[in-house]
Amino acid sequence: MQSSSNSTKKISLKVPEIPKANMMDLPGVGPALAKKLQETGFKTLESIATVSIGELVALGGLGEKTAGKIIQAARDKLGYGFITADVILESRRNMLRATTGADALDDLLNGGIETGSITELYGEYRTGKTQLAHQLCVTCQLPPALGGFNINDQDPITCVYIDTEGTFRPERIVAMASRFGNDLDVQTVLKHIFHGRAYNSDHQMVLAENLIKDAPSNNIKLVIVDSLIAHFRAEFVGRGTLAARQQKLNQHLHSLLKLAEVSNVAVIVTNQVHSQPDMYFGDPTMPVGGHILAHVSHTRIYLRKSKGERRIARIVDSPLLPESETVFAITEEGINDIS
Ligand SMILES: Nc1ncnc2c1ncn2[C@@H]1O[C@H](COP(=O)(O)OP(=O)(O)OP(=O)(O)O)[C@@H](O)[C@H]1O
Ligand SMILES: [Mg+2]
Repeated sequence: MQSSSNSTKKISLKVPEIPKANMMDLPGVGPALAKKLQETGFKTLESIATVSIGELVALGGLGEKTAGKIIQAARDKLGYGFITADVILESRRNMLRATTGADALDDLLNGGIETGSITELYGEYRTGKTQLAHQLCVTCQLPPALGGFNINDQDPITCVYIDTEGTFRPERIVAMASRFGNDLDVQTVLKHIFHGRAYNSDHQMVLAENLIKDAPSNNIKLVIVDSLIAHFRAEFVGRGTLAARQQKLNQHLHSLLKLAEVSNVAVIVTNQVHSQPDMYFGDPTMPVGGHILAHVSHTRIYLRKSKGERRIARIVDSPLLPESETVFAITEEGINDIS
């Protein structure tokens, strides 16, 4: 095996269970509606419990009252409401972690990038946001024992790359996957990455919204949005448009949040930076996207350039991890520890 030392990292994980919904147990759902729900991607109780009444009515053939009853029944079945902390702790055991390719970065992240939440990578150009996004499309396809999400070879996981800048390069995927030798088949890795080129913010939003329905049936476990903000920044120019932009961005982020939490997906978004002119002490580089993005991102990682291939990653915000930083390298074979 030609893989590097981090590819043999052992991570013990419990297999997550996606509950199979029996649609017709829900009040008002007969065979025809059950079929329609299945066909339109509502395949789990969670997907029904978290849909809005309007979205369900839009499927046709349902009034608001019935739609409300169906959603409530799905919520009751899942026991939505308040739950105790020990139950949350237990459910977090279903969370998967993917190695970044560098042990130092994994250690900083308490084992790697996690499912069920949004991780934001922000930094100036050439700091490695896109490289790390490519790397995760590869490493998440490893089995859990080697630091990936692939629990069952018979039902392999898939990754989705929403590319807003046209910087996705399959050649980099090949180089990064080759590093893992017999542990990963390069062709299989390529076939399980779905690339969507988004040409404007509406297109980007639609791609993300569709994934909410597609994620369970396609076993999607990683969704990249690279970059989250570029179209929004380009399309909404000037102070007067800020409120409209933030409203739209908020809607997009909530689609991504739902995707992460309902289908236990790792969502990675990349973000640009701006310089805060009134900051006299410390690093004036700040992520764009304002408070909305700051609130929705669970983990924010700030990437900076260092000497040559070296990059510095800093955890700026996390519900679990302290503020700290580490150094890694971008090499021909991908994200790596510094030599
Ligand atoms: N084949 C390779 N071998 C080694 N390093 C590479 C290779 N390909 C790219 N890099 C490194 O990755 C850097 C680009 O990183 P990346 O594309 O991830 O930047 P980014 O943070 O996404 O920037 P932007 O904000 O412009 O999108 C290059 O400058 C180079 O240093
Ligand atoms: Mg990039």
